[in-house]
Amino acid sequence: MAGQFPADFVWGVSTSAYQIEGAVDADGRGRSIWDTFCAEPNRIANGETGEIACDHYHRYREDVALMADLGVGGYRFSVAWPRVQPTGSGPANAAGLDFYDRLVDELAAHGIAPMLTLYHWDTPQPVEDAGGWTVRDTAHRFADYAALVADRLGDRVAYWVTLNEPAMMTMLGYGVGVHAPGRQLLLDALPTAHHQLYGHGLAVAALRAAGVAGRIGIANNHTPVVPAGATPGTAPGPADLAAADAYDLLHNRLFADPVLLGRYPTAPAGFESLDELAADAEALAAIGAPLDFYGVNYYQPTRICAPGALAAELPPDLAGSLPPLPFGFAPFDAAVPRTGFGWPSVPHGLTDLLGDLTRRYGNRLPPLYVTENGASYPDEPAADGSVDDPARVEYLSGHVAAVAAARDAGVDVRGYFVWSLLDNFEWAAGYGQRFGLVHVDYPTQRRTPKSSYRWYRDLIAAHHPR
Ligand code: NOJ
Repeated sequence: MAGQFPADFVWGVSTSAYQIEGAVDADGRGRSIWDTFCAEPNRIANGETGEIACDHYHRYREDVALMADLGVGGYRFSVAWPRVQPTGSGPANAAGLDFYDRLVDELAAHGIAPMLTLYHWDTPQPVEDAGGWTVRDTAHRFADYAALVADRLGDRVAYWVTLNEPAMMTMLGYGVGVHAPGRQLLLDALPTAHHQLYGHGLAVAALRAAGVAGRIGIANNHTPVVPAGATPGTAPGPADLAAADAYDLLHNRLFADPVLLGRYPTAPAGFESLDELAADAEALAAIGAPLDFYGVNYYQPTRICAPGALAAELPPDLAGSLPPLPFGFAPFDAAVPRTGFGWPSVPHGLTDLLGDLTRRYGNRLPPLYVTENGASYPDEPAADGSVDDPARVEYLSGHVAAVAAARDAGVDVRGYFVWSLLDNFEWAAGYGQRFGLVHVDYPTQRRTPKSSYRWYRDLIAAHHPR
């Protein structure tokens, strides 16, 4: 394994602001849609919130020390827009930016390259009140915010990620409403994808205009879509193939084609509103501006069949009462291992995905980074306080091998970031799903590196002997 990655391959870990920072009232931070959503009844498991989370806002030095011991070369984190612009517009709140200034300097002091995500879902509430991503103006607001962050940190950030997973914001936030802002627009949520992508394009332009030193990209969630018969063992029929094509469009191509090719994919039945978005030439020109890298978040493949009574298995994120959609989620074979979330663990899906992207986008695809990959398991300390998580080691080592296989096949992947450094606030699932290499005991905020942390440390050390 060690020989398969060059010395300049970036090994990293990922987090996001609302999931770890806490300190929601500190230094003039405004409210975000996640503060609002968490305060509503029955939105989050056990009524939990990100109010305290991992208290990283106050403990970032300890957390950077954990990263330094781990030996990572990169740290992907996000800036909370409502810390920088408490009302979502106007001048920067200097005290909010100070935190990221300190964080970036602390990373530099340990030789860790910052990968800064501008937007990991925490829209300022006043921006949502004015329509959020349903309105085009939000793209301009986002670009203004990007310019403020660039102005303060542009000299020290190695990698800029504009948006995190606009597909999830579109589907879970505006489509089915299990994430903030909790709207149920179903396919009428498509314009929110377009406005996020336009915001991405305008932010890229703002970062370029500011002359930032780092490279610029985006982090899209991708899943290989496997057409399936609705019952195990049955071959997919034409309706299943059409449903899989529609889902592949919604999850993958809707977010990659405009960014990498400057155009939307051809709209299948049910997606007619795409034609209107495709006519927005000004936005598409901005969205398709060349990037320096393309970030891929990968967790699992998806089996899709035609909608119908037998398409029983919904991903847990979508569990609940769902109105009819033009596709169904088909079960995986019972032999496929599951993570704590119930997600299938399929490492070769990552090799397939990276290969598919390379074939589909050819020379329009910039170098790839796996900006997130990881798994939740119910890790608890043993009597002696240690936390052993062999299932995570197996998940991660399988996926690292899958990246190596993609590289062997000629895919240009230059980095791999584990989700996540710490157990943290897993959105609608609250604190019940633990994704960390480091266990967090929330009542005491005690951090305990798990055995997966030691496994990752050894893997990194094998590539960068100290
Ligand atoms: C992707 C998201 O970017 C991150 O916020 C989330 O915690 C992980 N998936 C795991 O669900």
